[in-house]
Amino acid sequence: MQLTRRKPIITTLKPSNHPYLNGAWTPLHEEVDALDLEVIEGAIPLDIDGVYLRNTENQIHQPLGRYHPFDGDGMLHRIDFKNGRANYSNRFIRTRCFHAEQEAQASLWGGLMDRVDPSRRPGFGAHGSLKDSASTDVIVHAGKALATFYQCGEAYVVDPDTLETEGVAHWGPLDGVSAHPKVDERTGELMFFNYSKHAPYMHFGVVDASNKLTHYRPVPLPGPRLPHDMAFTENYVILNDFPLFWDPEALKLNAHVVRMHRDLPSRFAIVPRHGAGEIRWFEAAPTFVLHWTNAYEDGDEIVLDGYFQSNPEPGKFKDAPQGYEHMMGHLDEHTFGSRLHRWRFNLKDGSTKEETLDERILEFGTINQRYAGRKYRYAYSTTAKPGWFLFTGFVKHDLETGESESYQLGEGRYGSEAPFAPRIGAKDEDDGYLVSFVIDENAGKSECVILDAKDIAAGPVARIALPHKLCSGTHACWADRQFLAEGKRS
Ligand SMILES: [Fe+2]
Repeated sequence: MQLTRRKPIITTLKPSNHPYLNGAWTPLHEEVDALDLEVIEGAIPLDIDGVYLRNTENQIHQPLGRYHPFDGDGMLHRIDFKNGRANYSNRFIRTRCFHAEQEAQASLWGGLMDRVDPSRRPGFGAHGSLKDSASTDVIVHAGKALATFYQCGEAYVVDPDTLETEGVAHWGPLDGVSAHPKVDERTGELMFFNYSKHAPYMHFGVVDASNKLTHYRPVPLPGPRLPHDMAFTENYVILNDFPLFWDPEALKLNAHVVRMHRDLPSRFAIVPRHGAGEIRWFEAAPTFVLHWTNAYEDGDEIVLDGYFQSNPEPGKFKDAPQGYEHMMGHLDEHTFGSRLHRWRFNLKDGSTKEETLDERILEFGTINQRYAGRKYRYAYSTTAKPGWFLFTGFVKHDLETGESESYQLGEGRYGSEAPFAPRIGAKDEDDGYLVSFVIDENAGKSECVILDAKDIAAGPVARIALPHKLCSGTHACWADRQFLAEGKRS
């Protein structure tokens, strides 16, 4: 391996006992380029060709208030596979807020768990007082990586080869872009939404394969809501109005207190992907859903799969260090109870049917993106460590037969979201690999694992050493070399 370290980032973060600033959530401040990584076990398949991109949250400066991991500064990591070899690099996303805090050598914004008072400058997001760290999600569109923030910020354009931040997406509207814009690989289109505290509270937009905003329309809601993800089919997008949102009375005092309103249903908006056609609303059992796996049209019905939460307003995590009980409860899948679930919306008679597909606690699902918006068969979910926002392994579901198989990373080893990487010349839906970064707390190191999607239970076909220990984070994506090249051409 050939390693180049970049000039260090200025950090003012002090040691603490914060559960999300230590262990597998210890922020990384080093930026490197590493060529020809060492393979620890197995071999990198010759038929994997593309880039795995991962966004993590690494707080740089001493927080002004109570730190929440989603406040951390966004860092992109990439591992590039070609001809059985791998290269790695990582960079902070140079957002406006990153530059401002580097200049001030201090935090300038409070976080998700603070009142608005600590922020020393006007902030971003639907919340209005947060640092836009572009730290939540990463996708690839029109040949570029786009990093986005869950509370709606500017969509940051990053070169997928160098990880250089190039600026913000020119098409981003004033209300920002939420995390989880979706790309239809068959059309090259990007679909996005945003939400805010002012009417009409939500919008939906489309950016075409040549990076032009072609469609932007309001999707009116009854008040400020907290949607996190969207899904799409060939002709529609699916947006949501869940009964978990900021308490309206507290909002009048500029306090952001999330409450579950159990007397309200979950509402789903079926919005035409193009044109000003009618928005159809469907009702279902009250819940909150962080992430969808996929959606598709099936005759008169729209099928939507995602993770239904049985307890969207969780209490405290009892084993948390003092002062962190509430935050840890809200970050624990086992406390909010997320299970793979299917909704069916009948466009003919307006009815909704729903069912639980698996009783296990799962979230952070991925699919073969070539099947996004179309009938699909395989979903890959992650399992989580009870009490912690840490991924312990993966479950593959065959949604046709109901069968599943799983792989656990082992004690003290935590994965990252594992997108599907199609094999070169793939013939069927699960003909490819899952790629994940692993933080190994036993060894104090990180590695990359590649699993054969047709047999994840067999364990990794390759384990590749990474040059430093990563901090955990939220989302990741896979970009095929061919898809990247097509995007650049358009
Ligand atoms: Fe997310």
